[in-house]
Amino acid sequence: TRVDKAGHKHFMAKEIAEQPAVIGGALGHYLSEDGRQITLPGEDIDFTAINRFTMVACGTAYYACLTAKYWFEQIAGLPVEVDIASEFRYREPPVTPGTVALFVSQSGETADTLAALRYCSGRTDAIVSVVNVAESSIARESDLALPIHAGAEIGVASTKAFTCQLTVLLLLALKAAQARGMISDERLADLLSALRSLPATLNTAMERDENFKTAARLLSTSDNALFLGRGLMYPLALEGALKLKEISYIHAEAYASGELKHGPIALIDENMPVIVMAPCDALFDKTVSNMQEVMARGGQIMLISDAKGVADAGEGVWQTLTMPMVEPILSPILYALPAQLLAYHTAVAKGTDVDQPRNLAKSVTVE
Ligand code: G6P
Repeated sequence: TRVDKAGHKHFMAKEIAEQPAVIGGALGHYLSEDGRQITLPGEDIDFTAINRFTMVACGTAYYACLTAKYWFEQIAGLPVEVDIASEFRYREPPVTPGTVALFVSQSGETADTLAALRYCSGRTDAIVSVVNVAESSIARESDLALPIHAGAEIGVASTKAFTCQLTVLLLLALKAAQARGMISDERLADLLSALRSLPATLNTAMERDENFKTAARLLSTSDNALFLGRGLMYPLALEGALKLKEISYIHAEAYASGELKHGPIALIDENMPVIVMAPCDALFDKTVSNMQEVMARGGQIMLISDAKGVADAGEGVWQTLTMPMVEPILSPILYALPAQLLAYHTAVAKGTDVDQPRNLAKSVTVE
């Protein structure tokens, strides 16, 4: 099937804009008709018989796994190890009984991820994959393949596949929590209801595109950028930095906010924009302290938060980008959008090839 840009300037813009619809579609595939039960395709995993997940992936899919670690551990009480496929495959990691190996891949053909899967084959209790291409090698070689239903993704920098991966991984974490008796029916119902309204929330956020354009124009004159995030926002900070370097070629790094003092603070001066991703959650006060440390050294803070966070951040913040309020557990899916839009508009402002960035391939099928 031929895919066109549907009136957008780039495939990436189209794929960003499609997210509310494809996430809604993915939810449709994984929820019962009344939206109250999570249904997996194929056989159910016995979550009471397992004691650990090992998640392996590359690139953006790896950051989806890092996010899932927070969800599985906090919501389902299941320990999760996350690794980059190229490291995992050669380390010969021991696999203990009760481990489920989970591989996340948009293409389902990434060479290192496939090799890591083959290493686990026969060693783990089950092989699960989260893929966009349902007939891919990774899907075929899994005991259970969970499609993300994002539709064809053409832009080299992954966008809608990432948010659909997150959606499916969160549903899996919730399913595990339910099976293990780690979540009340009421809390589960609340979270599923919040998930069902997430596409609308994403649409609201998307209406603020002009603000991202303005912020990106400022960012496009920098040679460097630092992303900070804490908790669920740490993997998102990593994803924001990856997106920015991939398509705008601005050198970007990401750190867990609490690591600021252990090195990156040495980089802070008036030429270092620091993008802080922080909804006003339980950890927000700690993030405010980190922002103050940056501002005290002349660093320029671009804060991406909700209205309450923006109000509580106090004086001296360089730029603020206000996101709609969201149930904190779901914040990674919503905050993927500013990570993508900032990178996209910065690349457009710099005039780089957004859909085909230099030196990168959509799918890395050779080592
Ligand atoms: C390449 C792409 C990335 C992608 C990564 C993993 O580096 O440019 O966008 O995240 O491969 O690809 P996969 O298909 O396994 O998700």
